[in-house]
Amino acid sequence: MTEKDARRAIERVLFTKDDIAAKVRELASRIDVDYRGKDLVAVCVLNGAMIFFADLIRAMSVPAEVDSVCASSYGNGTRSCGTVTFGKDVGTDIRGRHVLLVEDIIDSGLTMAALTEELKKREPASVRVCALLDKPSRRVNGFTADYTGFEIPDEFVVGYGLDLGGKYRCLDSICVLAREKSE
Ligand code: IMP
Ligand code: MG
Repeated sequence: MTEKDARRAIERVLFTKDDIAAKVRELASRIDVDYRGKDLVAVCVLNGAMIFFADLIRAMSVPAEVDSVCASSYGNGTRSCGTVTFGKDVGTDIRGRHVLLVEDIIDSGLTMAALTEELKKREPASVRVCALLDKPSRRVNGFTADYTGFEIPDEFVVGYGLDLGGKYRCLDSICVLAREKSE
């Protein structure tokens, strides 16, 4: 799909490149304050958070070791199937260290609840979650992120790493898809 084709399905831009950059700087400053002097492992939740993660860790001034994990509760559709599948695991030994999971978006909350539970079994000093986007109205559990960029309504969004069936990740803004294309 060309970028021109992708644009046809976009209903509107929710957050521009500049909106996102400002929010990333704000989140990085909060993380810098909270983790100063701590042994931090920043973990990217693949694939959706890859672009956010790359920008966030470079905006932070606290040093962090970086790793990634692949966890997903979606097939190719727009709704969680309720089962969390773990692909690639975190390779770093996190015992006694501070873990910051970096996620693109929290929807039902199932993925982050399952992932934080799993990582806590490995006895880290702490596990926190930083999510760029949050759809609180969609939550099926009480999960809350420690750092949230933007709260959004119940609409399917793409771009800046977020996809629909592997498409639209490379857009530099976050967009709402036209309904007939997203469902
Ligand atoms: P949850 O387990 O339902 O919270 O699902 C979280 C995951 O679903 C996120 O990591 C995203 O990969 C994906 N997801 C949820 N909502 C959207 C969306 O609006 N656009 C793209 N991906 C989404
Ligand atoms: Mg994700």
